Amino acid sequence: MIRTHNCGAIRPEDIGKRVKIAGWVRFSRDHGGVKFIDLADSYGITQVVLDPEAMPPGADIGALSKEIDSLSRESVIAVNGVVRERVPGTEDPRNPTGMVEVLIEDLTVLSRSKPIPFEIAEQKKSFLPNEDLRLKFRYLDLRRAEMIANLRLRHRLVSAARQFFDSEGFMEVETPILTRSTPEGARDFIVPSRTMPGKFYALPQSPQLYKQMLMIGGVDKYYQIARCFRDEDSRADRQPEFTQIDLEMSFVEEKDVQDVVERLLAHIWKSLYGSTVEIPFPRVRYKDAIEKFGTDAPDIRFGLEITEVTEIVADSSYEIFNKIIRKGGIVLGINVRSSLVSSSSSETTQIGRKEVDRLIDWAKQEGIGGLTWMRVTAEGLSSNIVKYFPAEIRQKLIRKMDADIGDLLLFVAGQRTQARRYAGSLRTKLARDLGLLDGKSHQFAWVVDCPLFVRDPLTGNLEPFHHPFVMPVDGYIEESSNVDELKGLSYDIVLDGCEIGSGSIRIHDPVLQKKIFRLLGMSDDEIERKFGFFLEALSYGAPPHGGIALGLDRLVSILVGSETIREVIAFPKNKRFQSPLDDSPAPIEESKLAELELLSLSSMGEEVKKEVQH
Ligand code: AMO
Repeated sequence: MIRTHNCGAIRPEDIGKRVKIAGWVRFSRDHGGVKFIDLADSYGITQVVLDPEAMPPGADIGALSKEIDSLSRESVIAVNGVVRERVPGTEDPRNPTGMVEVLIEDLTVLSRSKPIPFEIAEQKKSFLPNEDLRLKFRYLDLRRAEMIANLRLRHRLVSAARQFFDSEGFMEVETPILTRSTPEGARDFIVPSRTMPGKFYALPQSPQLYKQMLMIGGVDKYYQIARCFRDEDSRADRQPEFTQIDLEMSFVEEKDVQDVVERLLAHIWKSLYGSTVEIPFPRVRYKDAIEKFGTDAPDIRFGLEITEVTEIVADSSYEIFNKIIRKGGIVLGINVRSSLVSSSSSETTQIGRKEVDRLIDWAKQEGIGGLTWMRVTAEGLSSNIVKYFPAEIRQKLIRKMDADIGDLLLFVAGQRTQARRYAGSLRTKLARDLGLLDGKSHQFAWVVDCPLFVRDPLTGNLEPFHHPFVMPVDGYIEESSNVDELKGLSYDIVLDGCEIGSGSIRIHDPVLQKKIFRLLGMSDDEIERKFGFFLEALSYGAPPHGGIALGLDRLVSILVGSETIREVIAFPKNKRFQSPLDDSPAPIEESKLAELELLSLSSMGEEVKKEVQH
């Protein structure tokens, strides 16, 4: 037996026991011949000590001492010894094993470590090296307590989800990784076929079509902890391969799916934290999300709602606004109520001029251009630009923004979508600066009543708002319908202002599905080529069905409070979607390219040509 206890297990009750423990030499120190080692594993840290005065008679203290001196940090050792109480005054009550230590009687080196490229014992983030170095030596990075805790929470969340699905009669079914393209709005990763040169698989952007075909197959309630692959632009909350908690159900309406998700998340909360989550989650209409919060993923834990004031300020002589309005833009305001400032953690009761200037600088850095501000005083609105706003307009602004003395009104202007995005980020910036999120618990919300289509801002082409399989609200589309006005039976789930999931009721009628493809500008040929198999499947009795997928990485990263989802993935890609650990993506041998017919013979070197021809 290599160990009787792990490094986090020994307690005062074990004092006097003979134990075997094994782990990594995280740290060692010599106090006048008494040698201490912090022996660590993923369960904890136990202090082991060579105390020459406490050794049994006849022990070769010199040899043992020499062995300890030879140990590099992060070498793996096994120790045989006796548990004893720590010398009074040297206990560490923050560590569960901190009241005891193991007196070394015998030590075996199991493997030695090269000098480590960065500090593992240190908890402070400022000590961390750049991310690429952490990723190159991810196996060392994973030894850090924070990383272990992240992986453990992820594991516990997935276990709780599996338990829930099992208890609700869901069946876990694996779907293919080598597939035909599944459109989720990103590019596909492509895998060439060797046996059918010139043909390619696509890695699934999600199991969307397969889970729908499982419903057609009568599976009724499906779930999968599904790996998805998307070749899209890098962001803190995006990876080219990521994991979804994916589910699909037959004979359901939107509310049935939403209820299951709420119960799932409540169950997860109970198992992770022992606490309850209030269900049902609040619903926010998509239109309100955009207009009041400036984003389709609103953080509803604080106010600072956005008010459009374009019509009011259009009558002013403030040229900055007028110019934008003339070009079809809008002006949006946020009332930073003095009550918010005084109840926040800051000591002042007003956002002073200096802070306003800092906000303006921030806005410039963010590309917002600028911020216009006005303060509400007993005499009305005051600021360096109120002279451009006649008294009547000022009154209207005060009324529309429900402003009171002491409030600060901030305005951003720009083209419609852009201005909303600006106002949305100003809102979150203010909440952070004012400490409005301090001590706030997590908040889920559904975003409902979403459009069926959006227009590409550049081409004006119709695109699916979610994906092309979403059922229109009425269950059909009339020839006379205005497609820009159509709503879909879809819903997003948002946690603390981050979209963590998206789902819908699906089209189960092949004729309607084909109509949607056509509306999206696909020719009959293209529809047949890309989705013929799926339309065929829909034409053999498809049940009404719907589902959702939750982004597991995003969910876990919010729960552990990490800045990127990379912190909750064992082996993620870096910001450029490379893996410094194994140096992928990497070139492959010309001979392999040729075998896949991705390289013509004429462009090959002589050596490779011979190898291929052979
Ligand atoms: P959607 O594309 O909205 O829907 O994805 C669902 C959720 O998956 C997460 N997600 C990502 N996480 C990390 N990296 C990425 N690149 C990434 N892309 C998406 C998000 C998102 O909310 N098949 C549909 C679901 C359905 O209709 O059932 C789908 O995949 O948290």
